[in-house]
Amino acid sequence: MDAFSASLMADPREIIIAPTIYRFASFADMAQRFALNARDVVLTNEFIFQPFMAQLALPCQFVFYEQFTGGEPSEDMIEALFRAIDYDSYDRVIAVGGGAILDMGKLLGCKRPDTVHNLFFKRFPVQHEKQVVAVPTTCGTGSECTNISVAIVKDEKDGALTGAETKLGLVSDDMIPGTVCLIPSLLATLPYHPFACSAIDALIHATESFLSPQRKTMTSEMFSVRAIELILEGFRQIAANGPEARMAYLGEYLTASLYAGIAFLKAGCATVHAMSFPLGGAYHVPHGESNYMLFGEILQLYDAVQPEGELLRLKQLIARVCGCKDTDAIAALRGLLEQVLPLRALHETGFTQADITAFPASVAVNQQRLISNSYVPMTRERMEAIYRACY
Ligand SMILES: NC(=O)c1ccc[n+]([C@@H]2O[C@H](COP(=O)([O-])OP(=O)(O)OC[C@H]3O[C@@H](n4cnc5c(N)ncnc54)[C@H](O)[C@@H]3O)[C@@H](O)[C@H]2O)c1
Ligand SMILES: [Fe+2]
Repeated sequence: MDAFSASLMADPREIIIAPTIYRFASFADMAQRFALNARDVVLTNEFIFQPFMAQLALPCQFVFYEQFTGGEPSEDMIEALFRAIDYDSYDRVIAVGGGAILDMGKLLGCKRPDTVHNLFFKRFPVQHEKQVVAVPTTCGTGSECTNISVAIVKDEKDGALTGAETKLGLVSDDMIPGTVCLIPSLLATLPYHPFACSAIDALIHATESFLSPQRKTMTSEMFSVRAIELILEGFRQIAANGPEARMAYLGEYLTASLYAGIAFLKAGCATVHAMSFPLGGAYHVPHGESNYMLFGEILQLYDAVQPEGELLRLKQLIARVCGCKDTDAIAALRGLLEQVLPLRALHETGFTQADITAFPASVAVNQQRLISNSYVPMTRERMEAIYRACY
């Protein structure tokens, strides 16, 4: 195991909840409570600004994420963002959006680095300097409470650029936002597909934290269990009444994804995230969906190798919410998820036969932190079998 993974295993903290967490009915209520002003920079999307903020005529500096990229954050995009927002022009960052916007808000709260590249390759320290208020508008990443900011950066080996790109998570407890605002009404405009992907991502965070063999604590388990219960109950409503059923339950999804974030900040994610990472990188499958594509088969493998212990307790939990027998829990979960979002096979994303052996080799090298947190030891053979079954 690498030194960083070992230090996580040895971390004696029972739980890490750094932000103060608020709940508001509307963005207007939040703006009033925090007295938003000209020294605030609000990073969001224009399609969130128009329905929820425009009519308030606030004096803040509004910046729209889509002016910089149509996709996930990249090194060049973050440089452009830094150039566009003068560091001395604000005291507080209000990040209102999905995981990508929250991750950028965290960086805006830090001391400006000499280059973004050096920041991500740890040659410039992460140093908290400005207040950050995180307002999630998706219900998946948990980024509002985590210590990570993810971006696609220029890869390097032994200090030299390789010409390729890689997705890196910059990790520092200095980046955890000081304030989180839960405003469920902001999720009303989130289309069904990204909603479903993000809710499934949160379910997987909670599940991987629940099964975490060494890093989970009594308190992280409590957050995992409640997140799983809330999300499965919501999915049962969607299965029974269709996608619109989510609208009456947005507060529960938003709260569950925060709980799942709190759980995995302590207990860690594992094999599902490790194996889905190259899929997102190579074939640009949305993060939640790429996790979902592997989730069922990974649970099936856990059940074949180690059906007792925490997995049995997970099956009992699923069975209780879904009203089925413990022995049917994994099949029932897979059936329920299929009703929320039809499962695509890996080959539909561009994934090839060759990837079945290439991806496990890359995961074994690059995703140690996640793989070492697996419920059962994860060998290359086991990973190959999972990719093959999902192909
Ligand atoms: N920091 C962390 O802990 C962490 C963890 C996992 C992933 N991430 C990062 O988070 C990002 C994924 O986050 P995500 O799943 O929230 O996706 P996202 O931020 O890409 O948002 C998904 C899509 O929904 C749109 N959207 C968001 N809120 C909306 C709303 N209220 N109405 C209409 N449209 C809306 C976005 O513009 C986007 O097109 C990735 O960049 C990933 O690397 C961060
Ligand atoms: Fe995730």
